[in-house]
Amino acid sequence: MASERMIDAQRTAVESMIQGLMIYKEGEEGEPIVDMRSDTVTKPTERMRVEMALATVGDDVFGDDPTVQVLESEVAELLGKEAALFVPSGTMGNLICVLVHCEARGSECLLGDESHMHIYEQGGIATIGGVHPRTLPNNPDGTIDLERIPGAIRPLDDHFPVSRLLILENTHNKKGGRVLSLEYMKAAAAICQQHGIKLHIDGARLWNAAIALQVTPAAMVEHADSVNVCLSKGLGAPVGSVIASDAEFIFKARRLRKALGGGMRQVGVLAAAARVALKDNLPRLAQDHAHARYLATQLSSVPGIKIDLSAVETNLVFINTGEFSANDIVLGARERGIWIIPVNPYTIRVAFHFQVTTADVELAVKVIKEVIADVASKK
Ligand SMILES: Cc1ncc(COP(=O)(O)O)c(C=O)c1O
Repeated sequence: MASERMIDAQRTAVESMIQGLMIYKEGEEGEPIVDMRSDTVTKPTERMRVEMALATVGDDVFGDDPTVQVLESEVAELLGKEAALFVPSGTMGNLICVLVHCEARGSECLLGDESHMHIYEQGGIATIGGVHPRTLPNNPDGTIDLERIPGAIRPLDDHFPVSRLLILENTHNKKGGRVLSLEYMKAAAAICQQHGIKLHIDGARLWNAAIALQVTPAAMVEHADSVNVCLSKGLGAPVGSVIASDAEFIFKARRLRKALGGGMRQVGVLAAAARVALKDNLPRLAQDHAHARYLATQLSSVPGIKIDLSAVETNLVFINTGEFSANDIVLGARERGIWIIPVNPYTIRVAFHFQVTTADVELAVKVIKEVIADVASKK
């Protein structure tokens, strides 16, 4: 009783201190008005900071951090898997999963030619893991044609690496947050099983996929052998991803995490923030999707601009700027406090997260429309 009262008193003291700090931070100069460059740009909320300050911690390399253990078991349960492991990043989570599935150098994995793992993770599976990536074309909806998969699995022959793994990305980042359906995931898993290879899901934004399909995260990965989910994207945790699979897989993954320098010590301070992210922000991802759809719909009627509305399924919007330079629009918007990014000379990406409010979205639409009109008038 007395210790509960002490914790309550501590909580009140920490909350008021953090409130003061937050007010000070918000007043800083140079902050963007609306940062829509990525869903990774969120700042920890007041509740996250309070829970971080109060987290019970221990040395997680010794397996002593109770807050990490709670987070891992909560995420394992959400994903319907036996065990889970907290890792510093999605990149490390994906790499560890590939290394566990492809223990021997000279293995091969099949993955999309526009997957995050192939394009944006420095080829770590090859350079660090000695695993050969065999790419298959990603369709505009993020899928890989299922009919192509059996033909890409190598027969056992001295000339070839050994096919061990298929990797799918859900939602698909480079294809604009597209969702792979439950039926697709199930069919892909069946092909893997038939051919004796494993299935890994890069689910950095699996939460968004589940919300978009109105199913549980566990249903999304029911047939997968391993999954990596990020807590630091739409969920807004400051750091961290979790990989989930069976207990034997996670045992091996824990060893590899240490070898890669990802063994963290009193990391309950981060797990505490991640738990708040899951609790507070998972249920409200639908709001981000509604914001994305609103902005896409509003901007799709601007002359010269093209947006495929059927592709706006989650929290990312890709704007095809047609004859206008994406860079000119991005720079014009930035001068007016709306931060978005060009992904190529004629495409802009806009990302939504919980720190972009409905008023922010309305402002962004107004500013982007005005900037496009400006750019058009100078042509
Ligand atoms: C689909 C996908 N996978 C993996 C990652 C890597 O995550 P991290 O930045 O935490 O390494 C990202 C990051 O944006 C991503 O979009």
